[in-house]
Amino acid sequence: MKCTRCKKPAVVKIRRHNSAFCPTCFDLFFSRQVENAIRRGQMFTRDDRILLGVSGGKDSMALWHYLVEAGYRVEAIHFDLGIGDHSLHSRSLVEEFARQDSLPLWIVEVAKEIGWSIPDLTRRIRRPTCSLCGMIKRHLLNRFAWENSFSVYTTGHNLDDEAAILLGNVLHWQEDYLAHQSPVLPSPHPKMVKKVKPFYTLTGEEIKIYSSLHHLSYIDERCPLSRKAKTWDYKEALELLEERSPGTKHMFWLGFVEKGQSYFTKEVSPPELRECSVCGMPTTQEKCSFCKTMERLERKGASE
Ligand code: FES
Ligand code: ZN
Repeated sequence: MKCTRCKKPAVVKIRRHNSAFCPTCFDLFFSRQVENAIRRGQMFTRDDRILLGVSGGKDSMALWHYLVEAGYRVEAIHFDLGIGDHSLHSRSLVEEFARQDSLPLWIVEVAKEIGWSIPDLTRRIRRPTCSLCGMIKRHLLNRFAWENSFSVYTTGHNLDDEAAILLGNVLHWQEDYLAHQSPVLPSPHPKMVKKVKPFYTLTGEEIKIYSSLHHLSYIDERCPLSRKAKTWDYKEALELLEERSPGTKHMFWLGFVEKGQSYFTKEVSPPELRECSVCGMPTTQEKCSFCKTMERLERKGASE
């Protein structure tokens, strides 16, 4: 197998692009994908102060490595969710990566911030774990980014993640989610930072190859609380289709970004935001979901 670009021996094959690459040309392919995504979506420039969410998984660790190497002004933030060994391993891996190259890293301990770890919360509040965890992280993140004057927040979500989310949104015809599923979400309110996903055109497999060529360590296990999440089923279903017809995920997700999403943004008007009467963060209701959840917890605590 020869590299499609330079004809030297290839080490990786990218079926959806019908190409094979040597390590140098793969790096070039990878950085072109990321830089095109950043430029096309006007995600950020080298002058922006970028906040990057790092879980310790392959995508966020690879994005961290990429942005640092490419000279972007990036600071990482890690949420310690208090999920037993999973959180301990993730945190120490992220801290070690930052320590090696003296990179700026913020650690937010959920239990310290709100008085409860994620497992504690899920025992007390009846709501699917991932949605509760996501809501708490979104709230803490928006507050953190706004209080610390970041211009943009970025995550390592890749093409596989987005295709699986899209499949879930389409299966349930969630029009408002479809209207807002985008690699670039502009800031809808001064207290909510713009959110971007520079890896949205790269598959998980391609990010794994990048990680292995650059000898990056990462946590290769699912969050133990998210094992029943439907997204995993959607990912498996798409993987099956991809096996039989390479390029299916690419066409589904990137086709939606290019052609489909605008239909939904036209149909669904953006939510009207006001400030939460308790915490002052943006919400569509009088009180934000975070504050309502905290009040429910307090009431429960008082009645226990
Ligand atoms: Fe939030 Fe697992 S990371 S539930
Ligand atoms: Zn609030």
